[in-house]
Amino acid sequence: MGKDGGGVLGKIRFRILDMAEELKIATGTKEEKYRSLMAQIASVVSSEDDLIANMANVAAMIHETFGFWWTGFYRVCEKNPRQLVLGPFQGPLACSRIPFGRGVCGTAWAKAETVIVPDVEQFPGHIACSSASRSEIVVPLFDKTSGEVTAVLDIDSAELETFDDPDRIWLEQIAGLLG
Ligand code: SME
Repeated sequence: MGKDGGGVLGKIRFRILDMAEELKIATGTKEEKYRSLMAQIASVVSSEDDLIANMANVAAMIHETFGFWWTGFYRVCEKNPRQLVLGPFQGPLACSRIPFGRGVCGTAWAKAETVIVPDVEQFPGHIACSSASRSEIVVPLFDKTSGEVTAVLDIDSAELETFDDPDRIWLEQIAGLLG
């Protein structure tokens, strides 16, 4: 311990270490994993008001819990509100911008509803950021006042038919914590 003698710096260091050990991945069913994940996300998000920081942690927590191929956010661009721009994510390099109504993300934005794609090859206009992606779910985030879509949560799986209605319900709840 330095000059600070375990005072403020010690506390900050302790909190960072604490956080680093915080994600507990439940074993068991998808339901059990989501239940545990949801509680931890609610806790992380309630102690931070910066949206980008929360998106970054939520992407990391979902990604680590389920081992998806790609987990991240696209945000409605402030400078060009007809485009989504890449936000915090975990996984391989991705396309930076997606126009309104294009691809799975742009479709979920235009419909203002979750889109589940069991096989990306069967989705007309799917944007293949990675050829390893086989199925996908995109969940919109809404502004609580205007009801407008502000961003989407996009998750890609390297396997077919990964996502179903329980995923939609849980992920919409998670998105609701960020809206
Ligand atoms: N497949 C998405 C593009 C984003 S990447 O999957 C990360 C789409 O069709 O909108």
